[in-house]
Amino acid sequence: MRPLIELIRNNIRNLAPYSTARDEYSGAIGIFLDANENPYSNGVNRYPDPHQSELKNKIASIKRVQPSQLFIGNGSDEAIDIIYRVFCNPGTDNVVAIAPTYGMYKVAANINDIQYREVSIKRGDVFRLEADKLLEATDQQTKVIFLCSPNNPSGNNLDHNEINKLLRSFQGIVVIDEAYIDFSTAGSYCKKLSEYPNLIVLQTLSKAWGVAGIRMGLAFASEEIIHFMSKVKYPYNINVLTQDAALEILKQEDDVREMIKLLQRERDELSIRINSFPFIEKVYPSDANFLLIKCFNPKKIYNFLLKKGIIVRDRSNVPGCESCLRISIGTPEENSALIKALLAYELLL
Ligand SMILES: Cc1ncc(COP(=O)(O)O)c(C=O)c1O
Repeated sequence: MRPLIELIRNNIRNLAPYSTARDEYSGAIGIFLDANENPYSNGVNRYPDPHQSELKNKIASIKRVQPSQLFIGNGSDEAIDIIYRVFCNPGTDNVVAIAPTYGMYKVAANINDIQYREVSIKRGDVFRLEADKLLEATDQQTKVIFLCSPNNPSGNNLDHNEINKLLRSFQGIVVIDEAYIDFSTAGSYCKKLSEYPNLIVLQTLSKAWGVAGIRMGLAFASEEIIHFMSKVKYPYNINVLTQDAALEILKQEDDVREMIKLLQRERDELSIRINSFPFIEKVYPSDANFLLIKCFNPKKIYNFLLKKGIIVRDRSNVPGCESCLRISIGTPEENSALIKALLAYELLL
């Protein structure tokens, strides 16, 4: 890896971040007349902790990292955008990403005027990461490689040997988006932060933790990388309600683990059941909480399900996902309703 400071945009290296009223003292409890807030208490009249200290300590202990290795964003989408703003010079730099994958890496590249280079991971009818192919697509101006494991929309884990090869050989930053890691049999790359100084792991509370509505995403990386990401974020990016709700859900870790097991079981059963329909060509193996299914006539199935009030994601226009629908795992009742609807579709054929 090139020295980190060389990878950071010039204007960010020396950026003086906004200093909040609460940054200018430490530990005092008393009468707050420093931030022009309304003094009358209603639970949210005070600004949130800009450093999210309590939340970071809690998450760090669950994930076995240091709080200084953690960035909290307004969804992982904020972390993705901040990665561009810290490392990539608009109009000059580029990033390399696997394809197909989560759409926000490309959207954020376009917003930030960064060239986005896609490398297909589809070989025959299998989704497989090949490190050399990604490395071939890089040049001196490539600052970041985006990986997603388990990958959305293909659902599979990427091969760790290939990921390790990228982490060792690429001179810039490697982002591994682990939004679905809790549904997976693979271990998290959070364990490898000290081994790979160019690694950023993204996770989110939107999937396994079940709180997509509060908008909270996580980035794990070296203390130095987190320092620069934190300089660029809005000072109060995680609001009081979100911080409180996140602390509550994190107390329910055991319940969440049970829910994950249930969703995994439902996923595996649903996969077998869906695969048995004659209009299904293939259900791709999934380590996430969704299934990518290749079908004959996906648009007809999509519209049929829609009429039955079941909304799935049509991915058939995405290169590499031709003829595919993506189906999230629902509750057992919702999954039964899906199977019932597919049985009704079968009768029409
Ligand atoms: C791979 C991946 N990363 C990130 C996200 C978004 O996460 P968040 O809700 O934290 O912004 C999604 C949402 O579908 C996703 O599939």
